[in-house]
Amino acid sequence: MKSESQEGSSDNPFNPGKPAEKEFFVGRKDELNQIVRYLKQAVSGSSFNILLFGEKGIGKTSLLNKVIEKASEENLLAVGIRCDKTMDAFKFFENLERRIIDEGLKRNELKFKFWQKEFNKTPDKQEYFRLRQEAESKEIVTDDLIADFKLLLKEVKEIAKGILVVIDEGQFLETIDGDILVKLKGILQTIGEGYMVIISSTGNVVDKLAEKHQSSGVERLFGDIIELLVLKDNEEVQDLINKRVKDLPMKFEDNVVNQIALVSGRHPREIVKICQNVYGKATDKGITLIDSSLLRESIYHLYREKIDTIRETYANLLPTEQGTLRTLLELGGKASVDLMLQNVPSHLREHMKTTYIEELEHLCEKGLIARTKFVETVTFSIIDPLIEYTLKAEMQIS
Ligand SMILES: Nc1ncnc2c1ncn2[C@@H]1O[C@H](COP(=O)(O)OP(=O)(O)OP(=O)(O)O)[C@@H](O)[C@H]1O
Ligand SMILES: [Mg+2]
Repeated sequence: MKSESQEGSSDNPFNPGKPAEKEFFVGRKDELNQIVRYLKQAVSGSSFNILLFGEKGIGKTSLLNKVIEKASEENLLAVGIRCDKTMDAFKFFENLERRIIDEGLKRNELKFKFWQKEFNKTPDKQEYFRLRQEAESKEIVTDDLIADFKLLLKEVKEIAKGILVVIDEGQFLETIDGDILVKLKGILQTIGEGYMVIISSTGNVVDKLAEKHQSSGVERLFGDIIELLVLKDNEEVQDLINKRVKDLPMKFEDNVVNQIALVSGRHPREIVKICQNVYGKATDKGITLIDSSLLRESIYHLYREKIDTIRETYANLLPTEQGTLRTLLELGGKASVDLMLQNVPSHLREHMKTTYIEELEHLCEKGLIARTKFVETVTFSIIDPLIEYTLKAEMQIS
């Protein structure tokens, strides 16, 4: 029963596999402002395509949904396509046409009914486009395709100022015909003013396509690359959590929110994953206030292996090494040796300096901290948030 309320319960507002609903969306102000500026430019005729990239779960799809909303406000017809392993160039364009028709229908049923009828009438879409796939080069002959889209886009121009094509999971384009984006541009160009493409991908798919298909010129199609990173600050993490529990009889203690921000590294999917688990645990126990001891259970549940390793490494340190680690933690988890020496009486400083350096190097070897050098200053820091969280718990540092 337990896992049911943790994973699939309908009243648990945290689901790491589900992009953020409109009313739960937080942050991303800079990225959105930037993209809206490009949308306005697209409407006024200077098209500017964007690559959005970021690691899995960082919030790409959530942001794209928001962008689609903004595009509609700018009176662009916004169509989203999601790629997958089975996508080929042919399916891509079939999908695109279907999506344009679907969105068009929402705005002007009369105009797009005809298109829908034609589209559905020919189950063999290859024939519909009269596409020929030349076996040897795997090239798609696009003349008929372009002719077809040209007519369709003309209709689009009558109901909107232009079109935004959003391609999610764009990393799967890599395996398709390398010219696909060039062809897409060729098609969209027929609309004249007011088109834009946004590709979202877990990596830089444009560079990869450009590498693979050197003469395609695909890299020139993209005017800006936006990398999506973790949420900006703890306030945004707090916002993410509060928005989802606002109308529910469940509260997260403030210090719990900060601990979640720490352990997750402010990575959206990690935040949601932790919250889903702890929310489920609280529900099971009939608790309505989530405190740090319940959170500790969840974190241990989710990251057990890693936490056990950290604890073991810590337990096997010399007491003086543990003390050095404590000093580092009390200084915020990041410090130079000079900073660590600030409260040491001056006559002991030289000796302590040598000891610290030796011990810190040893802690680096153990994988608990890392050493960085900037100009002449060497800094030691705990790089992994889970290490910081676990060690603080071990040493009872709040
Ligand atoms: N800006 C945000 N506001 C609120 N929640 C967010 C935000 N961004 C992401 N999330 C949450 O984080 C999780 C992952 O988000 P999303 O699915 O958008 O990421 P993604 O980058 O598209 O992931 P993938 O690479 O797996 O497709 C979801 O639970 C989503 O609700
Ligand atoms: Mg996604």
